[in-house]
Amino acid sequence: MSGGKHEEAVEALLQEHRSFAPSAAFAAQANATAAIYDEANADPEAWWAKQASALTWEKPFTKVLEWDAPFAQWFSDGTLNASVNCIDRHVTAGNGDKVAFHWVGEPETDTRTITYNDLLADVSQAANALESLGVSEGDRVAIYMPMIPEAVVAMLACARIGAPHSVIFGGFSAEALSDRILDADAHFVITADGGFRRGEASALKPAVDEALKTCPDVKAVLVVRRTGQEVAWMEGRDLWWHDVVAAQSTIHAPKAFPAEHPLYIMYTSGTTAAPKGIFHTTGGYLTQASTTHRLVFDIKPETDICWTSADIGWVTGHSYIVYGPLCNGVTSVMYEGTPDAGGKDRWWRIIEEYGVTILYTAPTAIRTFMKWGEALPAAHDLSSLRLLGSVGEPINPEAWMWYRKNIGGDRCPVVDTWWQTETGGIMITPLPGVASPKPGAAMTAFPGISVDVVDNDGVSVPNGHGGLLVITAPWPGMLRGIWGDPDRYRETYWSHFDGVYFAGDGAKRDDDGDLWLLGRVDDVMNISGHRLSTAEVEHALVGHHAVAEAAVVGASDDTTGQAIVAFVTLKISGEVTQGDEAALIADLRSHVALTISPIAKPRQIILTPELPKTRSGKIMRRLLRDVAEHRSLGDVTTLTDPTVVKMIDALMANHANDDD
Ligand code: PRX
Repeated sequence: MSGGKHEEAVEALLQEHRSFAPSAAFAAQANATAAIYDEANADPEAWWAKQASALTWEKPFTKVLEWDAPFAQWFSDGTLNASVNCIDRHVTAGNGDKVAFHWVGEPETDTRTITYNDLLADVSQAANALESLGVSEGDRVAIYMPMIPEAVVAMLACARIGAPHSVIFGGFSAEALSDRILDADAHFVITADGGFRRGEASALKPAVDEALKTCPDVKAVLVVRRTGQEVAWMEGRDLWWHDVVAAQSTIHAPKAFPAEHPLYIMYTSGTTAAPKGIFHTTGGYLTQASTTHRLVFDIKPETDICWTSADIGWVTGHSYIVYGPLCNGVTSVMYEGTPDAGGKDRWWRIIEEYGVTILYTAPTAIRTFMKWGEALPAAHDLSSLRLLGSVGEPINPEAWMWYRKNIGGDRCPVVDTWWQTETGGIMITPLPGVASPKPGAAMTAFPGISVDVVDNDGVSVPNGHGGLLVITAPWPGMLRGIWGDPDRYRETYWSHFDGVYFAGDGAKRDDDGDLWLLGRVDDVMNISGHRLSTAEVEHALVGHHAVAEAAVVGASDDTTGQAIVAFVTLKISGEVTQGDEAALIADLRSHVALTISPIAKPRQIILTPELPKTRSGKIMRRLLRDVAEHRSLGDVTTLTDPTVVKMIDALMANHANDDD
């Protein structure tokens, strides 16, 4: 949901004054207490230092925060190893036989159980393998994998040897992959022959081969055999994982790195066509990932089975499948496939079979399950669940209520968590057992985090008002920059208001001071929780030989939150027959999928003779969004030619949605 529609829903809900207090039983056993806020507020740095001390440090830190705005260093004189924190320390503590992952492949019988002992052996072998290939401290390694255990092993092996990983979502195209490999200047790639998607083996290696045509510096490609499909092979560059990794020792002596050593780069969309390499470092990031995981999800490591349904190609997978849960020594479920693989009740079967206690997913998934009907979850025993989380997009109150009732049996607290690739971990959330969440509200800043809602001049708005979300103090998991581009880092996040971080989201503070997130205020779209910029999709469209100009907007969509609607003018104007038009639109949609990813495919493409422009020549996106969302058009007097909008509106009305 976005824009006006979401705001209306929030307003309607505020009238209801509805909130859900925790049960006495839940509150009595909760990790979080109201006192945590008092302690963190009294001295945020001391509170974070206390959380950081729960990690295993080779050399304990004495410094907490050094803030030379907008550059922060946390715990900078301490040294640690991320993979030791995720694995070795649990093995040393005697928990090696504990399951780290119940991995569930898309094909029904394809499952694996990986203990912390197994993970240590696998990661040690992979770390030895990477070193044998010449990967050393500081080298960037690109990971382009399906949701298989080797993806986690690869990440942790990189972390173990101090080589920052850059995981690129397996749904990205060869071109997107190549852009990211080049930007990170990665010389090593870890991939697989393919993965399973909707019952089919889908290939990954061909995209790597294609991408590497423009990446001459890549020296080695490690390939996991997952599907067994045929792959092209470049001798001297391509190596099978099972040949190279399995031959290595299962012992690898880890080295400690400074807290500010880069842990990973994650590319995400900004407001321009070029994705940004958000980079995170080690000590502060692990502190925030593990602390938020423990408190927001009320983790009891002995008994909880956590399932974060994200892909490890996104930050949610990094923080809440890999680093947070493993730092906390819990058992997680990791699932390879789509929600409907093997039947639309696949998730509920997984929860039942593994006794999942904590489920963390996105509103788009919840809305899809709503469409599929409540009978599917009702047919399964979901009584193991004790807490539900939501992330990635504003959650509409109806979806929140449905989730709580039909998945959580009206007993599980629901936490709506707001954060970003840039923040590294959860920033705004109710704490279960303490808060009484309102359906659709992310409620309050996490302890030790300072946020505000401000007007266009940067002045804090009073309760009952909306504005722009900002973060007013540095936090441990914050991005340390945009890889290779400190100016863009300053400009993007720190130039709107002096000394505070501009999140790019609109928010409202209700009469009680609780926070409601309202969606992006910039040209970033949120499609099924996937972040994409309008400029990126426009850039792909104008790369097509037939296209002269393109304007893209995110229009609100009942299932995916937002959907891409593109308005396109053609180079060859004149008569295009209806059949030609349909074929061209189909071609344009696949062109975008091939250039960026299938997730970037416009839902609808409108071919129009002209785009509405202001007298100064700027495309009027707001108007196009109104058209795409079928809103009344208001004042169009600043347009060069107001009839253009009317014409586009009429064209829209003639097109059914081009949904796949
Ligand atoms: O607009 C916000 C939305 O997702 C954006 C961040 O996207 P990304 O970096 O891909 O990270 C997604 C997962 C952390 C934010 O700027 N967003 C994320 N969580 C919420 C949200 N919007 C509303 N409510 C949320 N809980």
